Amino acid sequence: MALGAVVRRAFGPYERQVAEAWRAIFFNLDDWMAMVRDWAPGARRILELGCGEGYSTERLARLFPEAEILAVDIAANIGRLYAGPADRVSFRIAYAEDLAAELPGHFDLVVLTDVLHHVPLALRPSLLGAARDLLAPGGVLAFKDWERRWSPIHAATYSADRWLTGDRIAYLTVPEARAALGAVFGEAALGRTVRIAPWAHNYAIRVAR
Ligand SMILES: C[S@@+](CC[C@H](N)C(=O)[O-])C[C@H]1O[C@@H](n2cnc3c(N)ncnc32)[C@H](O)[C@@H]1O
Repeated sequence: MALGAVVRRAFGPYERQVAEAWRAIFFNLDDWMAMVRDWAPGARRILELGCGEGYSTERLARLFPEAEILAVDIAANIGRLYAGPADRVSFRIAYAEDLAAELPGHFDLVVLTDVLHHVPLALRPSLLGAARDLLAPGGVLAFKDWERRWSPIHAATYSADRWLTGDRIAYLTVPEARAALGAVFGEAALGRTVRIAPWAHNYAIRVAR
């Protein structure tokens, strides 16, 4: 088990509050989720790729009360701390590529939050291609990541990501991220880059299918 998971579980019943407070130092998840809702207000079929333990999934369920949500991850702790509705939200361990073969063009909205920097560079085109193939025509990819740019908070974020998750982290610059998304979706599909509090390193791009 990754060091971060061991540390967090040590907080017992307070794990959720501690984890949320820790993340808020780096990123305002609520601001991002509100942006996602504004980017695809009518979404009825939502896929969250790399949902982790379910914090963001829970917010999506609240912000899209009429949507069916599928949340997937490759990690065994998927959805562990999710406490939202169970009737229209499901969790599944799956690779995006396998899901794309099973449900092509199925989703109005695909959400990818702080996942890409955990994925080995060589596998990123395949993951983004699967995200594209999972979207219906006119669907939206809501993409969010952390920008590689030197600052004290960047060093802190890298250390936390690297040593708490155990993953080999590789952040992109914004031009690199736009090039990676543009190579898969086409340049014209990309909206402008927006920033999310509390650090300008948090950036997001709305991508249209
Ligand atoms: C920093 S967490 C973000 C979790 C969630 N998106 C959030 O913002 O709360 C990164 C997640 O990406 C997942 N992940 C890494 N590579 C993946 C892949 N190829 N497909 C799906 N999920 C992946 C990890 O297992 C981890 O749960």
